[in-house]
Amino acid sequence: MTPAAEPVTGLPLRLRAPVPGWELTADVCVVGSGVAGLCVALHARAAGLSVAVVTKVEVDDGSTRWAQGGIAAVLDPADTPAAHAQDTEVAGVGLCDPAAVQALVTEGPERLHQLISWGAAFDRDPTGRLLLTREGGHSTDRIVHAGGDATGAEVQRALRDAVAADPGVTLVEHAMVLDLVRDAAGRAAGVTLHVLGEGSADGVGAVRSRAVVLATGGMGQVYAATTNPGVSTGDGVALGLRAGAVATDLEFVQFHPTSLYLGPDARGQQPLVSEALRGEGALLRDGAGERFMPGVHPLAELAPRDVVAKAITRVQLRDGVDHVWLDARAVPGLADRFPTIVARCRAAGIDPVTDLVPVTPAAHYASGGLATDLTGRTTVPGLYACGEVACTGVHGANRLASNSLLEGLVFAGRIGAALARELPVPAPDAPADDRPEGLVDVAARGPLTATMSARVAALRSGAGLAEAAGRLAALAERTTAVPGVPGWETTDLLTVATAITAAAAARQETRGCHWREDHPDATDDWRVHLDVRLDADGVVQLTRRPVGTPVAVDW
Ligand code: SIN
Repeated sequence: MTPAAEPVTGLPLRLRAPVPGWELTADVCVVGSGVAGLCVALHARAAGLSVAVVTKVEVDDGSTRWAQGGIAAVLDPADTPAAHAQDTEVAGVGLCDPAAVQALVTEGPERLHQLISWGAAFDRDPTGRLLLTREGGHSTDRIVHAGGDATGAEVQRALRDAVAADPGVTLVEHAMVLDLVRDAAGRAAGVTLHVLGEGSADGVGAVRSRAVVLATGGMGQVYAATTNPGVSTGDGVALGLRAGAVATDLEFVQFHPTSLYLGPDARGQQPLVSEALRGEGALLRDGAGERFMPGVHPLAELAPRDVVAKAITRVQLRDGVDHVWLDARAVPGLADRFPTIVARCRAAGIDPVTDLVPVTPAAHYASGGLATDLTGRTTVPGLYACGEVACTGVHGANRLASNSLLEGLVFAGRIGAALARELPVPAPDAPADDRPEGLVDVAARGPLTATMSARVAALRSGAGLAEAAGRLAALAERTTAVPGVPGWETTDLLTVATAITAAAAARQETRGCHWREDHPDATDDWRVHLDVRLDADGVVQLTRRPVGTPVAVDW
């Protein structure tokens, strides 16, 4: 049996936001304004609850609007929920929770139709039938899309318009979530916020509520190059960990095989080159123009995403190059079907209609997150999580393409139903917490992302992970007294980077998107989730939990 996971020490991850000077009250506080957050808001409104949606920058600035490929759902009469479940579980390599997958594939079609009823317009054929395409790991065509390759933008537009039309939703933009507010019974009773241009000297405000739903998206900015927007700094997972919640499967960071390669110094958000292009026939080639996927997997370029990302990384290492090539020249009607990608490539001086496109893997999606039950409840009373910030169990060790918007739709519906049941009236406030403040200096951010990209990326080793853990612990010493969004973001990034690194070091196997060169095979011993929590001293603790055993949620 592999030894139990070791705690990781030395990190002062014991923050607590200052006392708020500005307050807003609502039944439900939703943090984040992508597909998950806005759907939860609409469901809560349908239950007659008042809602505050708080978002770090502007309502459309999260990951949702960048989604290209689409939403997977069983809509073709020849397709079945069982086939969708099987594809999801094959991609998840033994770590998916079957009950969560069942909910996803059976409730998905109805939730998609609900999204259409809220105003989202998907691409259809001349008879009005929804057009379906295929992406990696799917055994059939089941991906709906909008505007060709602008699915997320259409979903975001429709949901934003629906929420804006409802006076029962208060939207607070430019409000970065800091910490959880609890009542005297220990239940989530709101959040503290850093609000630009509002409130007390530090701009610290709060929403007081009867339940809190985190829908803050992902953490791709913990790496130097990612497909995620700048707001994806792991704020929800970091807040949850500080509040005592359990996070799980954090080591399974998905690298998208094909981001547009913009040169060795490219940093931050990189343009995505959708897998749907390969679904429509685009091929991967090495520097000599040869295809390399047919020898790797029976589905070749449409193998699950982790398989393709690993194969590309191997070719890059073998040939000592920074990228491979995507050949989309034979895709029918390329510029009409994929207008966003073609425009972005052309802006970079590459015309995919006539040229090969340079591509390389980039951090794309957190398959793990705050552990929830099937109604989105975390282990902290009153605190829910939805979308990429959550780990519902549907993705396992590697998310299947186009299951993420779907997960947001389905579990937002489940959270809505839970909220519609009676919410408690909060007990009086808990006494002020006296834990120290310890924001991390923003100057730590560059070394932090460089460390994660060099040592905790697609290809990992025990030695590299130990080195990364040491570097991150040293960065945690660089604290600052200067309050503000950059310091909080850096602190959140360091919190999630430390937790990812600890889990990746502990998991001594290769599974899904966790690839250890010193442990190249998956083993039955490791068919477990690694639950992460911070102890009272802010030290990361890891616990193994067998697959199929739900995380303990007892409220
Ligand atoms: C893509 O369009 O390739 C990304 C879709 C996804 O991440 O599910």
